[in-house]
Amino acid sequence: MTPLHTRFTRAFGLNTPIALAPMALASGGTLAAACVQAGALGLVGGGYAEMPWTQREYQRALDLVPLESRSRLGLGFITWKLDEDASALDWALNLPAEQRPRAVMLSFGDPRPYAPRILDSGARLLCQVQRLSQVEQALQAGAQVIIAQGSEAGGHGANALEGRATFTLVPEMADYLGRQAPQTLLLAAGGVADGRGLAAALALGADGVLVGSRLWASSESLASPGAVAAALAARGDDTARSAVFDILRRKNWPAPYDFRALRNALHRQWERRIDDLRADPQSARADYDAGVSAGDFSRAHSTVGEAVGLIGDAPGAQELVARMTLEARAALVRGSALLVG
Ligand SMILES: Cc1cc2nc3c(=O)[nH]c(=O)nc-3n(C[C@H](O)[C@H](O)[C@H](O)COP(=O)(O)O)c2cc1C
Repeated sequence: MTPLHTRFTRAFGLNTPIALAPMALASGGTLAAACVQAGALGLVGGGYAEMPWTQREYQRALDLVPLESRSRLGLGFITWKLDEDASALDWALNLPAEQRPRAVMLSFGDPRPYAPRILDSGARLLCQVQRLSQVEQALQAGAQVIIAQGSEAGGHGANALEGRATFTLVPEMADYLGRQAPQTLLLAAGGVADGRGLAAALALGADGVLVGSRLWASSESLASPGAVAAALAARGDDTARSAVFDILRRKNWPAPYDFRALRNALHRQWERRIDDLRADPQSARADYDAGVSAGDFSRAHSTVGEAVGLIGDAPGAQELVARMTLEARAALVRGSALLVG
């Protein structure tokens, strides 16, 4: 693969400015290692920070990633879950030096209580934010990388009242960091699923991209094959962001965040009656649980973002990273051709 370099690739020893999003229960060790091997940053999805899952999947990544590529391996956590139990983070930070994550990504909450121990361990701190108003906290925490997440993103993000679109959030964030913290790197997240998106993010002022949905549909992903099959048959119009699946899954997410997934029949049934669902979720939960057991994705959720309309296959992650890089290089060359004559 012909590399594509930015400040981000140089900081982490990458060949392409792509990071695998730490997707809870999907970004396991095998997927993270495949991304590392492809020259990207591989973040194991510590997500909800359950100890056995984190230990097993991070250890799997360590087994697959040779020492010389470990600068490309890290872990991600949901910050408000760490407020309940940070033992998985502490386990990772206290591993022998050559096994410790070199990058720790925190999203959805105040990163400052965890930043000192992350930075003391020698890891770089990446903070995902959804609004300009959250950046100051991340900079106070000492984040070396800010990830600007637009609401196109799959999975959790800011809700309709608080959320921003990637296309405006990223350049505004680039301007802000350029003035306030020019050494801080910026990644764009939300809706980047091919090389056009990567090239666009670089043009908007980002140093790279964080990719979730596109790599969720890959052969190494731990996502359920039925959920991926439902996504492959969907278009970008077919997702929605709401609290429906968090209520159905008994996930107690704090107010500004909700969840983008395929807008299936069960979602449609409840999306205009969220207060009723919250007040009396029992029968809907039974419906949802039955859908999960049966592998019926008209009821079970398939977690993917608006980029689903750009996803038509589920090959290996190495192929996906190489494809995106090649396409981005081609898009940048096409762009520079506009300058001639
Ligand atoms: C299946 C799935 C699970 C996710 N889980 C997490 C998570 O555990 N922690 C987190 O910080 N972000 C999570 N995200 C959001 C990603 O960090 C990222 O912002 C998003 O995937 C980027 O948008 P995209 O899906 O359009 O690429 C998840 C996204 C998906 C699609």
